Amino acid sequence: MNISFADVSLSKPGAIALVVTEGNALAGAAAELDRKTGGALKRATKSANFTGKAGSVLEIVAPHGIAASRVLLLGVGKAAELATSALENAGGEIVGRLERAKEANASVIVDGAHSAKIHAGDAAARVAFGAKLRSYKFDKYKTKKKDESGQVKGVAIMTKANAAARKSFATLDKIAGGMFLARDLVNEPANILYPVEFAKRVRALAKVGVKIEVLGEAQMKKLGMGSLLGVGQGSVRESQLVVMRWNGGKATDKPVAFIGKGVCFDTGGISLKPPAGMEDMKGDMGGAAAVTGLMYALGARKAKVNAVGVIGLVENMPDGNAQRPGDIVTSMSGQTIEVINTDAEGRLVLADALWYTQNRFKPKFMIDLATLTGAIMVALGKEYAGLFSNDDKLSTQLAEVGEAEGEKVWRMPMGPAYDKMIDSRFADMKNTGSRDGGSITAAQFLQRFVNDVPWVHLDIAGTAMASPATAINQSWGSGWGVRILNRLVEDYYEA
Ligand code: BES
Ligand code: MN
Ligand code: ZN
Repeated sequence: MNISFADVSLSKPGAIALVVTEGNALAGAAAELDRKTGGALKRATKSANFTGKAGSVLEIVAPHGIAASRVLLLGVGKAAELATSALENAGGEIVGRLERAKEANASVIVDGAHSAKIHAGDAAARVAFGAKLRSYKFDKYKTKKKDESGQVKGVAIMTKANAAARKSFATLDKIAGGMFLARDLVNEPANILYPVEFAKRVRALAKVGVKIEVLGEAQMKKLGMGSLLGVGQGSVRESQLVVMRWNGGKATDKPVAFIGKGVCFDTGGISLKPPAGMEDMKGDMGGAAAVTGLMYALGARKAKVNAVGVIGLVENMPDGNAQRPGDIVTSMSGQTIEVINTDAEGRLVLADALWYTQNRFKPKFMIDLATLTGAIMVALGKEYAGLFSNDDKLSTQLAEVGEAEGEKVWRMPMGPAYDKMIDSRFADMKNTGSRDGGSITAAQFLQRFVNDVPWVHLDIAGTAMASPATAINQSWGSGWGVRILNRLVEDYYEA
């Protein structure tokens, strides 16, 4: 879908969409359209009780007096309370409606929908961003494209502030690029996207200036990563550890670090999962996908920060060579782990990835993302990701930027009583606690591989995939994590 920016014009064919504020639905360009159509807009808003509340839509098909095939009015609420999310949702809703109506092109007028906080150019750019995010499709494996759903070819965003909008959107478009990359990676099936293929796709980030290193099993073995390697040992696919580096800050600045769980498929291993819904476990690399999408976005928009991304890529399979319950592995940290349940594999991968990142890069902070536990969905559903941390400041910053970006996090408790639950009879620790507090004991496990550095663990099992469709996301893989972390960097860690 092509997005362009232009000055306001009411004479284009195709559909016209007007983004309007509450109580002011028929001002500006809308008033002019109302005149041209002999009062059709006024009559329609009255009959439909349309006032411009956030999320409301009014569709007027083929009104008399203008070339346009239809006019859409999209409410974004009161100007004084204008939120970027309402603007994005309006943009998304427009594309959804155009697809259903099989309209190929639309003029989207963002005329009066701005505020003291959100300037006209930024407001229009947010509408464009929403439209772009909604346009995402993952249909590469459909050999027969369904013709019931149309494809929107072009959206012209019209505003007097079109130069400012174009500039503002240029950055958002790069973030969308990172989100789409993350969505693609999550949506890909595991026969296509196994660790080596994932690493190969990460190499493409070189084009935005991100430096890539890939470690294979031999190198990881030398480093002593027995915890990560144990997970992948039942798979015919080679495990990989990928390091991404973006150096946009001062040479002396410590990097910020992001670590992702990349289980390309999680069968559970010898502790085999039940068949129902197991296909969803192709998305068990959602953390690694988010880190990859984030690093792309940081590089593409030339963020003034030093950042590293480290992803542990494995496939968790049952096999004659697979790891067994009761096996004891030695992690890179030297700590030993009794593997009680081979299905609690994500923490085993992260243990070595966290240790490696911390020791090699001495980062300012570490944030890991992982589709780690089913239990986080029992606690929080699919609205919030679980946040676990040793640092109040970083936790507060993430809660704030998450709210602003629509990727929300909720902090969960940690502490010594939970930590005790993973003490093992035979080794330094075991990889599961009891059923109680399953997401918390998983976080306690990770914390045993974190020293003094500020650290956050985000459990994204509920948000990375199969999340409810919204105005701006209809994809199974949501790309969750790219937005919140990009915003964290932008607001707090760029020079
Ligand atoms: N990848 C799963 C967690 C998961 C479940 C993610 C559903 C997304 C949707 C993880 O590896 C896992 O299997 N966790 C176990 C841990 C248990 C064995 C302690 C779980 O949640 O049941
Ligand atoms: Mn598992
Ligand atoms: Zn898993």
